[in-house]
Amino acid sequence: MIDSAKRFSLKDAPALIERLLPVQKLSAESFKEQMAGSGKTLTALGSYWKGRKPLILNKACILGCLLPATENPKRDLEIFEKLLAMDDESFVARWPRRSRPREILATLSIARIGDYFVSDPPMLLPQSAPVDWSKPELADVKVHWRDDISELERRQLEVQMLPKVPYRERVDEARRPEEVMDTVHVHIWESVNAHLGIDAYSFPELVEQLGIMRFGHRPRVGDTFCGSGQIPFEAARLGCDVYASDLNPVACMLTWGSLHIVGGSEKSRVELEGKQRQLISRVQAEIDKLGVETDGNGWRAKAFLYCVEVRCPQTGWKVPLLPSRIISKPRTGQRINVIAELLPDVTTKAYAIAIRSGVTDEELAAAEIGTVSRDSKFGEAFLIHRVNGVDHKTKISTLRGDFISPDGSIANRLRIWEKSDFMPRADDILQERLYCVQWARPKKIGKGDEYEFRPVTADDILREKLVQEYLANNMAEWQSKGWIPDMRIEIGEAPRYQGLDLVRARGWTHWHHLFNPRQLLVAALVNQGSGAGLKYGLTGILNWSSRLSIWGTQDGGGGSVKNTFMNQALNTIYNYGCRGLESCKGLLQFSAPLFPISQAQSISVVSTPCDQLATESDIYVSDPPYGDAVKYEEILDFFVAWLRKNPPPEFAGWVWDSRRSLAIKGEDEDFRRGMVVAYKRMTECMPDNGIQVIMFTHQSESIWADMANIVWASGLQVTAAWYVVTETDSALREGSNVKGTVILVLRKRSGRHKTTRDDLAWEIQEEVAKQIHDLTGLNQEAKGLYRDENVFEDADIQMAGYAAALRVLTRYSIIDGRDMTVEAIRPRVKGETTFVDGLIAFAVDTANQCLVPQGIPERHWKEYSGAERFYLKLLDLEAKGFKTLDNYQNFAKAFKVRDFRALMESQKANEARLRSAREFGKNEMGEGSELHQSALRAVLYALMELIGNVDGNDVMAHLILNIPDYYANQAQRERVVELADYLANKLEGLRPDEASAARVLRELVKNRQLG
Ligand SMILES: C[S@@+](CC[C@H](N)C(=O)[O-])C[C@H]1O[C@@H](n2cnc3c(N)ncnc32)[C@H](O)[C@@H]1O
Repeated sequence: MIDSAKRFSLKDAPALIERLLPVQKLSAESFKEQMAGSGKTLTALGSYWKGRKPLILNKACILGCLLPATENPKRDLEIFEKLLAMDDESFVARWPRRSRPREILATLSIARIGDYFVSDPPMLLPQSAPVDWSKPELADVKVHWRDDISELERRQLEVQMLPKVPYRERVDEARRPEEVMDTVHVHIWESVNAHLGIDAYSFPELVEQLGIMRFGHRPRVGDTFCGSGQIPFEAARLGCDVYASDLNPVACMLTWGSLHIVGGSEKSRVELEGKQRQLISRVQAEIDKLGVETDGNGWRAKAFLYCVEVRCPQTGWKVPLLPSRIISKPRTGQRINVIAELLPDVTTKAYAIAIRSGVTDEELAAAEIGTVSRDSKFGEAFLIHRVNGVDHKTKISTLRGDFISPDGSIANRLRIWEKSDFMPRADDILQERLYCVQWARPKKIGKGDEYEFRPVTADDILREKLVQEYLANNMAEWQSKGWIPDMRIEIGEAPRYQGLDLVRARGWTHWHHLFNPRQLLVAALVNQGSGAGLKYGLTGILNWSSRLSIWGTQDGGGGSVKNTFMNQALNTIYNYGCRGLESCKGLLQFSAPLFPISQAQSISVVSTPCDQLATESDIYVSDPPYGDAVKYEEILDFFVAWLRKNPPPEFAGWVWDSRRSLAIKGEDEDFRRGMVVAYKRMTECMPDNGIQVIMFTHQSESIWADMANIVWASGLQVTAAWYVVTETDSALREGSNVKGTVILVLRKRSGRHKTTRDDLAWEIQEEVAKQIHDLTGLNQEAKGLYRDENVFEDADIQMAGYAAALRVLTRYSIIDGRDMTVEAIRPRVKGETTFVDGLIAFAVDTANQCLVPQGIPERHWKEYSGAERFYLKLLDLEAKGFKTLDNYQNFAKAFKVRDFRALMESQKANEARLRSAREFGKNEMGEGSELHQSALRAVLYALMELIGNVDGNDVMAHLILNIPDYYANQAQRERVVELADYLANKLEGLRPDEASAARVLRELVKNRQLG
């Protein structure tokens, strides 16, 4: 080891993340990780958590804060990429399979095979490769790498075997770095050490040495909004000390699990697995003793299907509420279609429910329609059933007896459930009915189980009663011991509050009302006395078996009980699935990956509101709840209720309450105030050379002004900002929304510098131009090295432009005599443009000016409208092969285009595209359009006509009509030529017919000018 005293100090050195971040590659890697679903490293601890920040992104941020930006940015980038396993040699280890020596020799040209390989027998191999292995004399020759060839040399040769495809495609094919953690980095340390002047052979060594150079000790990373623990876990895995806190105890529990279960030792894992097995056999023994999950003939219940049942007010019939009667719709050939059939019984005015297996596809299709339907116009659900050939429809709201109460709120006639309730009472409006049981038993021949769906029998009803009685006898005691919740569903902030629907739609008032007797029984048995590690299994079964668990038939697996947290809301449903213990076992015995974290590191997880931070950290990386759609403080009560009484010792120090009023939420004044207090506190608890990284999902336009205000008021200044695409539509199931994460890098603001708006203008312009110049320069340098791919794309450069503007702005405490820390916390008046808004808008405009596409002179660029600039800029990107929707979204914002979708032909996440001249046709010409009377629209119109073989004179006549002042204004005519030229050039590869029409138009205009 190099003596730390001999190492140079990095105390005041700029951090690498303040200069560069390989955002394009990070986007590809983040996307890959997000798409891994249950394969994500920490997901096994709680798949219900929404909005996990990718570990690879967290790693890049933490390392980027520790690594220095040296005099050699190109080398800095190469080393950074090696540490993130983004270099070519790392891909050799990330590839699904490594090439064998014989394959290498068959493929590559190698002058002297003997430089790398030895063969057995030695004589037969030719001197050089490629080798033709089909020769009979080579059939039995074995080839091995020479022992003295280093891993790096091997990989350098093997790299040539990898397909030469763009980075994104490579990432698609490869494994994630953390899946090959043991081997992926072995080749990098010599070059890392040489570049940084350190002596490290692992991340903990690297991190410790860099920490000492920068802060004088192993660095501590803090995250005061730790959520599921993605940031603290990655910091700990890298070797940092960690301080993690969150208001919500469920977040603390997930973070604790990441650090002590996934980050635990092998010994602790073996112990946990033992405890899981014991737990399962204990619960199994209890269930067997009761005999409530077996049919007495060797079959065990896999799932129970329940539905709500009501009395139809029109007919007096009892009707089960089934939106669909399908029970199993398998895609695989071995299983058969199963449906429920309603058999009317006129004497009892009720339906028996038969279960029919092996129905035809037509019968299956007919079973899509059940007894609940939704009004296509108003979306309101209604009950529908047919008696004597007549349909009877009743709105569900009518069944509930909805009415407007004197205070204006909606009320109904449903009975409000009490703490001791766990099922409807006999005279309740909404009853609950078991309508099918899925049974399983081991196959007589071969492996696995066979399954059967059966109708409910008298024995089943007896078993239901047994469960209900057992529960009734134990309920009070179990609630007082905390094995079953007794926590009320808090009602507040109507109409947005999640819990409200639970109460309104069902009369449920306590969290245990979301579980039926069987679910309560199994969960209570699991909850009894289980230690910290077993609580993750408990939350797993709560999530995967509740009265909100859909019975899913869409994925072709033959029907299964789905997770409550399928989306971000707690919605009541009419029919649901309940798991038998057998299908809870996998959840109780979850298997999570193991990445042991060293005992030497200091790790703490606390449930403290962010403003009560009392521990100093060198680096803060945080992901605050910015205007978040996920209402953590509401939905997580679903679990808090089960854990709050008698938490295991490891969790006992946390406040088991969601403390909703303390949560930072929304986007309004309270949000800003909360954020300022939080970030101010972090700034106070950070050394002068500390660094902060704030991540937030890029959603609204006001984000930049908000963040500038928060940064100013917290005593921070921006030193860099980046944009990484972290999700796409399929990841979030939100149509074609692409979501990116903005990453702001911040330092303490030093001194109280003053400036004026006039001076700022110059400074911003210079800083933006420099930033853009630096990044484009880095692109140039990196070309060739990375298969001609850019490190930064235009949107990144644009973002960096904004960042440069924020960097300049937040450097100053006083602008035009105004104290910005005061200005920043001044309450906003809706619709008012504040001083800061004005400054940001100006800065953003300045940044945009620097992004002129090639082919349009800079002096003209400003004269085009926002929509024209948008079209021209994006066409430039399309010509370069870019298709991701987020580019369009970002530039639409940048150019202030109101409705960019009107200019788009496709809005698919990765196949976005502008409308062509032909696709526009005659649209977007009118006054409502942002292209109305623009030169660009007129030119596109002309192209459309030329492609359609309209006569040149007519085309010109229309063009002249479409452009106001065409004759009077020479500049307009020149603009048309400029646009025609530009389009001809950009469209050449995309739409050759339009490109050639553009050339014709240019000539027509020119000739007319001459004439
Ligand atoms: C966006 S999430 C963090 C997600 C996390 N980075 C991850 O990857 O899972 C924001 C977190 O802030 C927490 N939070 C909200 N208000 C808070 C406050 N006043 N103090 C501390 N934490 C708070 C929420 O409970 C939530 O866990």
